[in-house]
Amino acid sequence: MNVKFFTLIAAVFLLGNQSYAQKNNSFNVKKQLEYCAEQASKTLKVIPDDGTSPRTVPNGSKDWKFVNYKDWTSGFWPGELWYLYEATGDKKWEKEADKFSQFLKPLSVSKANDHDLGFQIFNSFGNGYRLTKNPEYKDVILKTADTLATLFNPKVGTTISWPHNKMGGHNTIIDNMMNLELLFWASKNGGNKKLYDIAVKHAETTMNNHFRPDYSSYHVIIYDYETGKKIKGRTAQGYSDDSMWARGQAWAIYGFTMVYRETKDPKFLDFAHKLTRVYLDRLTTEDLIPYWDFDAPGIPNEPRDASAAAIVSSALMELSSYTKDANLKKEYLTKSKKMIVSLSDHYQSRDVNSAFLLHSTGHKPAGSEIDCSINYADYYYLEALLRLQKLKK
Ligand code: GLY
Repeated sequence: MNVKFFTLIAAVFLLGNQSYAQKNNSFNVKKQLEYCAEQASKTLKVIPDDGTSPRTVPNGSKDWKFVNYKDWTSGFWPGELWYLYEATGDKKWEKEADKFSQFLKPLSVSKANDHDLGFQIFNSFGNGYRLTKNPEYKDVILKTADTLATLFNPKVGTTISWPHNKMGGHNTIIDNMMNLELLFWASKNGGNKKLYDIAVKHAETTMNNHFRPDYSSYHVIIYDYETGKKIKGRTAQGYSDDSMWARGQAWAIYGFTMVYRETKDPKFLDFAHKLTRVYLDRLTTEDLIPYWDFDAPGIPNEPRDASAAAIVSSALMELSSYTKDANLKKEYLTKSKKMIVSLSDHYQSRDVNSAFLLHSTGHKPAGSEIDCSINYADYYYLEALLRLQKLKK
């Protein structure tokens, strides 16, 4: 390579990085929060008055698909409304957040259908209680934690994820880590202390069985109901049993970071770092938004999953706060911010639909929710923006 050409390449590279650094420093969180509020206001106008809430806008459509309170994603929309209340202090959001949370109340006293109770009730009533201290919300959360705990199988050491899905044993999916937060919270806020032990046991069992030697996660582990022994690791929503499904790894990173927060046990922190390492090292996209599965065969012509990026961005901000190693802390913060800037600059659904983000992938193997807007991407994007705002302050 001749010297002039090398100099030109180096200059382009430096300028590229500089413009990213400048953008990152000038990134306006408040403006993005305002955007979310504007989009959510538009969504409020189109929700039918029948107890449902918005879940997905399919690719190519402008219209939300609505779901009732039993759907696993039913807590994200009320959660977004609570975050908007937190971001703005505007009572309008509190009123709407309360309304949409209330639809979910029957879950607290119904028989547990699956592990998703944490996503459903902690994102809705959990955020609501954090912001209002309304004792009625607390009652709902405590009852739901007891309901979720009925899924715990002490022979295995985890709560079963899908009791109705016969997969040849007691199934546990990595997503289930997220729902331990509800159990921890209840155990520390007037609920049964055993809920804490259940959550820790679930996290330990998952840590020991749910990961390959490189710390990438299986989606599902099947355990023997009686002996508790691991039978096999497999996938449901990923590309293959042995692939790294992007959102699965994101749930793992977020989940173990949260378990460290709740337990202060360093083994969980160490583990969260390892899960993060494999994710960041294998992330090849320039904008840090992953393909839906890191091993999808058609990369680079595979759909992205903005939801995984939003989850990881939010988790990395928390993980960075527990990190003493200055270089690692800097890496986490820089990458987390870059993920939010990418989502804000190139993935927003302004002019397309009234969600916040485009380009998430729900269940590619089933051909469903591919490259579309999904409420949990919006929820964690908003959470990440709020976390970034707090960091800046
Ligand atoms: N928890 C289901 C999913 O992440 O798609």
